[in-house]
Amino acid sequence: MGIRILGTGSYTPDFQVTNDDMAKIVETNDEWIRTRTGISTRHISDGEPTWYMGAQAAKRAIEAANIDSADIGLIIDTTITNDYITPSMSCIIQREVKAVNAACFDLNAACSGFVYGMDTAHRFLMTDRKMKYALVVANESLSKITNYSDRSSCILFGDGAAAAVIEYDENALYTSHLGADGTGAKYLYARTAVPESPFSKAENREKYKDEVGAGPEGWEHTMIQDGKEVYRFATHALAKAANLAAEKIGFDLNDLDKVVPHQANMRIIETAMKYLKQPMEKAVVNIANHGNTSSASIPIALDEAVRSGEIKRGDKICLVGFGAGLTYAAMILEY
Ligand code: UT7
Repeated sequence: MGIRILGTGSYTPDFQVTNDDMAKIVETNDEWIRTRTGISTRHISDGEPTWYMGAQAAKRAIEAANIDSADIGLIIDTTITNDYITPSMSCIIQREVKAVNAACFDLNAACSGFVYGMDTAHRFLMTDRKMKYALVVANESLSKITNYSDRSSCILFGDGAAAAVIEYDENALYTSHLGADGTGAKYLYARTAVPESPFSKAENREKYKDEVGAGPEGWEHTMIQDGKEVYRFATHALAKAANLAAEKIGFDLNDLDKVVPHQANMRIIETAMKYLKQPMEKAVVNIANHGNTSSASIPIALDEAVRSGEIKRGDKICLVGFGAGLTYAAMILEY
């Protein structure tokens, strides 16, 4: 009772910001960034909106899948950097790819979003057999919510988009596990709207003050992160998610051909692979050229691996991520 990935696509802005460029903005250097994170450069939007990047990736995925957009019954977009509070990103993507028969909604699970989105799409396809294909899109402009005065976080993030077209297949290998720990919400967040209206009272704002969103003045809409706490969570969460997914169907992780992890930090990936008792050669890694693109990171890595031949038809793969929430998610399937 699984899914087949019929086609993938990705898009990243041409404009790039290298570690040396970052050193002109904050007190850092190429050596520190490369050894602590594995990142050398990142693609950054110099004007493309998030929806545009997502639409390009979606069009490439639809082309690769060789399907008619009108047969897409569902679009789930997993962005955390929408251009609008409303409408949803998925509606804009629908407009762009002319998927006129699709139901559209967005899903926010931060960097775990693509895996959450694929698993949700799988459940829709399984229960509504008239729904032929689903399109899952992950597009992010993290540069919009990055605080470029915070050297411990701004060097991590990049922009980009990727998408996948999937269909239901009763006989396909499939298992997944989605999880979260909301007590860690305070470790990684960015606030949305200003929490004020003509009717709100200062004493009530004080009364309902949350530990999330209590960051320094001037950082209201940018990401605030406790890197060490997120790091600690991440190394265990990746292995936990993959193990729990595998256990559900008695799958032996040694049978995996490739693991496509969230590209947050090279050291996190290495530790997670160690916990999974899998060799680093099985990990798909593109962090050097992209940095962390949140929900787009796993599908960009997947699309690049598919197009370069690193992942081939028939390979058993595990997509596994973690992110703000704190969330974690893994899925095992045959490409
Ligand atoms: O999608 C999920 C998103 N988030 C993550 O996955 C983040 C997970 N965490 C991490 O990847 C790491 O914790 C960081 C890369 C953020 C930081 O690496 P670290 O090895 O944990 O460094 P640290 O915070 O312990 O800092 C070590 C030193 C500090 O200096 P002192 O106090 O030892 O003098 C920092 O001030 O490095 C300093 N530092 C920097 N130095 C040069 C912090 N950022 C930088 C920088 N350049 N960019």
